[in-house]
Amino acid sequence: MVEDSGRFDALLQEDRTFPPSEAFKTQANISDPNIYEEAKRDPEAFWAKFAEELDWFKKWDTVLEWNPPHAKWFIGGKLNVSYNCIDRHLTTSRRNKAALVWEGEPGDRRVYTYWDLYREVCQFANGLKSLGVKKGDRVTIYLPMVPELPIAMLACARIGAVHSVVFGGFSAESLRDRINDSESKILITADGGYRRGGIVPLKQNADDSLKNADGQGNGAPSIEKVVVLRRTESADDKMVNGRDIWWHDLMQGQPLTCEPEQMDSEDMLYLLYTSGTTGKPKGIVHTTAGYLLGTYATFKWIFDIKENDTYWCTADIGWVTGHSYIVYGPLANGATSVMYEGSPDFPERDRFWDIVAKYGVTILYTAPTAIRTFMRWGESYPQKHDLTSLRLLGSVGEPINPEAWMWYHEYIGGGNCPVVDTWWQTETGSILIAPLPGITTLKPGSATRAFPGIEAEILDDQGNSVGPGGGGYLTIKKPWPSMLRTIYGDEERYVEQYWSRYPDIYFTADGAKLDDDGDFWLLGRVDDVINVSGHRIGTMEVESALVDNPKVAEAACIGKSHEIKGQAVVAFVTLKDSVAISDAIITELKAHVATKIGAMARPDDIIFAAELPKTRSGKIMRRLLRDVAEGRALGDTTTLADPAVVDSLKEQYGEEE
Ligand code: WTA
Repeated sequence: MVEDSGRFDALLQEDRTFPPSEAFKTQANISDPNIYEEAKRDPEAFWAKFAEELDWFKKWDTVLEWNPPHAKWFIGGKLNVSYNCIDRHLTTSRRNKAALVWEGEPGDRRVYTYWDLYREVCQFANGLKSLGVKKGDRVTIYLPMVPELPIAMLACARIGAVHSVVFGGFSAESLRDRINDSESKILITADGGYRRGGIVPLKQNADDSLKNADGQGNGAPSIEKVVVLRRTESADDKMVNGRDIWWHDLMQGQPLTCEPEQMDSEDMLYLLYTSGTTGKPKGIVHTTAGYLLGTYATFKWIFDIKENDTYWCTADIGWVTGHSYIVYGPLANGATSVMYEGSPDFPERDRFWDIVAKYGVTILYTAPTAIRTFMRWGESYPQKHDLTSLRLLGSVGEPINPEAWMWYHEYIGGGNCPVVDTWWQTETGSILIAPLPGITTLKPGSATRAFPGIEAEILDDQGNSVGPGGGGYLTIKKPWPSMLRTIYGDEERYVEQYWSRYPDIYFTADGAKLDDDGDFWLLGRVDDVINVSGHRIGTMEVESALVDNPKVAEAACIGKSHEIKGQAVVAFVTLKDSVAISDAIITELKAHVATKIGAMARPDDIIFAAELPKTRSGKIMRRLLRDVAEGRALGDTTTLADPAVVDSLKEQYGEEE
C-alpha cells in the first residue's frame, strides 16, 4: 500500500482555502462549474466540441475507438500540428504578435513573431527534406534552450517527421541509447549551450554518442547527418566532413514556404524518453490530434490564457512540460511564450524576477523545487523587482508542500494570483488534475480535481474505489485524447506497465489521497522511480550505471527526502573484495553515474555495505534501505552504514518486502 502517508497526515492539517476572487471569475475563460457535470455525462461530446477549435484539413468521422488498452481519437481526421501552432494565426491579428520571446543566459535576446516563426519553420522543414527526411522518419534533437529547438520540433511536425528531443543534461551514452532505440536518421545539436556562465559541450557529447562506448567505431549507425547550430562558437573545428552540416548553411537559400503534410489524427507526432522501473528508458509515443487537443484545451482553461498575456514556463523543452506548455499548448492558442536558456542564479539569484519584470510576464509556470530554492535564497531577490504584472501562477513536477505554495502565493504572486498545482506525466501528454482558476477553491498542497472529461479515481490494492478520506493508487478510468499510445517498439511493456495492475484502467504509479471535499492530494511515486528536482530517474538506471564500474559488485538505489530537490538519490554499494572503501571511490562513483546518465542522476550519498539486504528469493529490501537512508531506523547515516546493523535490520524486517 502507499507508503508515504506521513506526508498526508501533515497535509490533513492544512485547512487554508482560497476561493476564486470575483474579479478573476468574471474574466476567466471558464467559470461555469456545470462544465464538470456536462463533460462527465458525455466525455466524447465534450472533447469533440473542443476539437472544433482546432483547424482540420478534414474533419474526423469517429471521435473515439477504445479497444483497451488502445485508444484512437478523431479517426478519419486530417490536420497538421505546425499549421495549428503557426499558419492559422497568420490570417488574424496575431500575424505580427510575438510567439516566442527568448533570452539567452549571457543576456542576448530574440523575439519571433508568428510570421517569423512561420518562415523559420518552413525553411528548416525544407532543409530537413533536402537531407532526405520523410514522413515517419525519426529525428533526434539535442539542443540547448534556444529558439531553434521549438523551430526544429515544429519543422518535424510540419513534414510529418517524428521528433525525439533529448534533454541537454543527458550524457553521450544516454543520448546514444535514445538515438538507437528510435533509429533516428538525423541528429540536430549545437556546438554548446550556456549554463551558469559555462558552456555545456553538446557537440562533444553528440560526437561521443555516435561512437561506441569505447570511443571507437560507429555507435549509432542509423544517423546519416548531424545538423549543428552555432551558439557558443566552441566547436568550429569539430565538424565531421560529410556527416555534419551547420544549421545556417542548411537554411541558406531554402524556400520560404513549405506545404504542411496532411497528417492522420493518429499519426505519430513525437517520441519522448522517460524513466521507468527497468534500466531501459521508455520511448513514450504521442500522436497528432489527441495530443494537440489535450495541450490546447488544458492550456486555455487552466492557464486562462488571454490575447495580451505574456506567459513563461521555466521548464526545459527536453522534458514533457516544455513540449506541452512552452511549445504546443501556448502556440496552438496563439499565445506569447517566453523562453530562457540558463540557470536562475546567473549572474545573480534574481534572474527569474528580472525576466518577469523585464517582459511583463503575466503567467508563470514553474516547479516546487525551484520555489523551495527561492525560499532558501530569501524574499529580498523577488522584492528587488516589480512583479505586479503577474496574475496567475502554476506549479508542476512533484507534490508542492503547503509552505512552498504559500510562499509562492505571497512573495511572487503578491497574495492575489491563483496558484494552479498541475498533476500530469510524460505519458498523459497534458495536465489531468488541476484547478480551473475561475471555478476551483484552491488548497495549498492539493492539485484539487480532474480536468473536465477526465475520470480520475483512487483505488486500493483490491481495485476498490476509495471514498473521501481514503488513500491508494491514482488511476484514470477512461481514455483521454492526449494519452500515450504505446511505448516505442515495446508494446508488451506498454500493456504490462500501465494496464495490467487493474484491467483496462490506466495505472499512474502515483499514490494519492482524497479529502472530504473529493479533492486529490498527490503523494509521489509508488514504483522504483525517483523524482529529483522534478526529473524522473529510474533506480535501475542508476544501479546499472554503478555496476558498470569495475570496482562495484552490487548496487541498490533509493530516493531519500530532500529539502530542496524533493528527493535525492542514495546508493548502497557493495565493492568487489579487493577494493578498499575510500573518499576517492565515493567521488569516482558519483562522477561515473554523472558520466553514464547525466548530472541530475548523481547520487547525493553513497553508503557501502558488505552485503545488500535481500529476501531469501534474492529481492533487495528497498524499504529497509529507505529506512536506513532516511535515518528512521539507524539515526545518522551520513557516514558508512555498519553492515552488522543492516544485517540485524534484515532480520527484523524478515520477508516483508
Ligand atoms: C510527479 C512531469 C504531484 C508524479 C509533468 C508523476 C507530480 C511524475 C505533479 C511525472 C504534481 C508531476 N503533484 N506530483 N503537480 N506533477 N508529478 O513524466 O509523480 O516528468 O508521476 O511529467 O511527476 O513526471 P514526468
